[in-house]
Amino acid sequence: MAELIIKCIFFLSVVPFLTTNAISVAASVVPFEDCGSIYYLESIEVSDCSSYPCRIVIGSTVNVTTNFLVQGTAYDSEQLVQNVYFVVSSIQLQAQVSPDPCTAVQGSNACRLENGRRVKYQAAVRVDNVPPLRGTLWWTMTNSAHELLVCYKLTVIFTLA
Ligand SMILES: *[C@@H]1O[C@H](CO)[C@@H](O)[C@H](O)[C@H]1NC(C)=O
Repeated sequence: MAELIIKCIFFLSVVPFLTTNAISVAASVVPFEDCGSIYYLESIEVSDCSSYPCRIVIGSTVNVTTNFLVQGTAYDSEQLVQNVYFVVSSIQLQAQVSPDPCTAVQGSNACRLENGRRVKYQAAVRVDNVPPLRGTLWWTMTNSAHELLVCYKLTVIFTLA
């Protein structure tokens, strides 16, 4: 509880400072909810998000950076299946994301990440075909054995330009 309060105070005090001083392409660290990740999620950053929930303009592309720590070599995989979607009014809408996490993470066998490796994965999310309402962004990465390596969700508010 104390940690949560500190995080909230940190968030409230730092974000307005950053947004008034940084150029508009700056990304903000946002609160997120972990939905059962095997890997340790360190932080999530979203571009052009000056307050939480992030307001996302329909028709725009937002950059989402997932900072995580690989835990456990038992989860090595040749394949990493990424599924990113929005949920608005209980309806699931697929999001288009690039690049693929396997090609974005440097190394010859990019999905085979060694234990303890710290990864910064930046991806662009195209936001189209969503209604101007509050919703949730879900981000999941699963290996070929269907183990959930990364799972988190963020509250967002879709807005018209
Ligand atoms: C997203 O990242 C790309 C590449 O780093 C950058 O060119 C672009 O300006 C970023 N977009 C936003 C909205 O920050």
